[in-house]
Amino acid sequence: MGNRTALVTGCAGFIGSHVVERLLGNGYHVIGLDDLSTGTLENMITFQSNPEFEFVETDIRKENLREYIHGKIDSIFHLAAIASVKISTENPLLVNEVNVKGTLNILELARVADTKRFVLSSSAAVYGNPTNLPVTEDTLLQPLSPYAASKICAESYAHAYGQSYGIEPVILRYFNIYGPRQEFSPYSGVIAIFVNRAVNHQSIQIEGDGFQTRSFLFIDDVAKSTVLAGEKTAASGCIMNISGIDQVSILSLAKMIKNRSTFGDIDIEFVTERIGDVRNSIGSIQKAREVLGFAPSISLEEGLSRTIDWYQSRTV
Ligand code: NAD
Ligand code: UD1
Repeated sequence: MGNRTALVTGCAGFIGSHVVERLLGNGYHVIGLDDLSTGTLENMITFQSNPEFEFVETDIRKENLREYIHGKIDSIFHLAAIASVKISTENPLLVNEVNVKGTLNILELARVADTKRFVLSSSAAVYGNPTNLPVTEDTLLQPLSPYAASKICAESYAHAYGQSYGIEPVILRYFNIYGPRQEFSPYSGVIAIFVNRAVNHQSIQIEGDGFQTRSFLFIDDVAKSTVLAGEKTAASGCIMNISGIDQVSILSLAKMIKNRSTFGDIDIEFVTERIGDVRNSIGSIQKAREVLGFAPSISLEEGLSRTIDWYQSRTV
C-alpha cells in the first residue's frame, strides 16, 4: 500500500484537502494540484510538510500537465472545479473552461500517465428537478444551470475515456456537503454563509421562500466515501449518489442556526430566489451503500456543532 501514488486536484479546497488527509493516513504518496483560486494554503496546514505530500501550484486549464507532474500516478481524485451554481449563471464561459476543459486536461494526464482509477466529483445538480425523490442514478438528467451542464459534460468525458482508453472512471454525484474548511464568500455553500453571518451577528438571507430543500452531508463522510471510490474494485465504471438522508428546508436550516443562543438575536430576511436553483434535492444512497458500504454517520446537529466550533475558532 505504501507506494501507491494518488493525484488530488483541488487539494487546497474544502473537499480536496480532507481527501488528501485521508489518503495520507491510508499510506499513499499524494501529489496535490491547485491554483489557489478558492483553495488556501491554510487548508493544507495539517499535511503540507508531510514527506509523502507534494504540492503543484498550477491551473487545470493548462494543457500538457505532464510537464508539471512526473512519475507514476495510480489514481486521480478530480476535485478542482468552480463549485458555485451562482458563478455559473454569472459567467458560464469561465465555468465551462474550468469544469469541462479542465476535466478533459486531467483525463488526458490520466491517459498519458497510464492511470487506472479516475474519481470524478460530479453533483446532484445534474438531475435538475426530478419527479421522484430520493433521486436514483438512472434518472433523466435535466440541468437547470450552466454549472449542472458542465458537470454532465465532465461525466461524459470520464465515461468516454473509460470506453476509449481503459481508464476506470468512478462518478460521485455529491449532494450538499458542509463542514470545516468550506470557503466563506458570497459564492460558498449555504451552511458556510449562514454560520459565518450568524457568528458575525449579521442577518441570514434566504433566497426565495425558504421551502426549497437540500440533503446535507458532513465532510468526513464524503472524504471517506471518495477514498473508497478510488479503491473498491466494484466501483469501476459506477455512478453513485453521495447524499445525506434527511431533507431539510433552507428556512429550517436558518432557524437551527439562529436558535443557537450564543449568536444572540439574528434576523432572517427574504431576498430574490436564485436563477437556476434546484427546488428539492435528496439522493438515494442505495448504490453507494452496496458498492462502497457508504452510510452517513454524522447527524446535521452534530455536524453543525463541529462546523460552528471551527468557524468560531477562526474568528477569535
Ligand atoms: P472548493 O472551491 O473548496 O474546491 C475547489 C478547489 O479547486 C479549490 O481549492 C480551487 O482553488 C481549485 N481550483 C479551482 N479552479 C481551479 C483551476 N482552474 N486549476 C486548479 N485548481 C482549481 O470546492 P469544494 O466544495 O471542495 O468542491 C470540490 C468538488 O466537489 C468540485 O468539483 C465541486 O463541483 C464538487 N461538489 C461540491 C459540492 C459541495 O457541496 N461542496 C457538492 C457537489 C459537488
Ligand atoms: C451546492 C454546491 C454545488 C453542488 C450542489 C449539489 C457550493 C457553493 N455549491 O449547490 O457545488 O454541486 O450543492 O447539490 O458548494 N441560499 C440562501 N441564502 C444564502 C445562500 C444560499 O437562501 O445566503 C439558498 C440557495 O438559493 C439554494 C440553497 O440555499 O436554494 C443551497 O444553496 P448552495 O449552498 O449554494 O447549494 P446548491 O446551489 O445546492
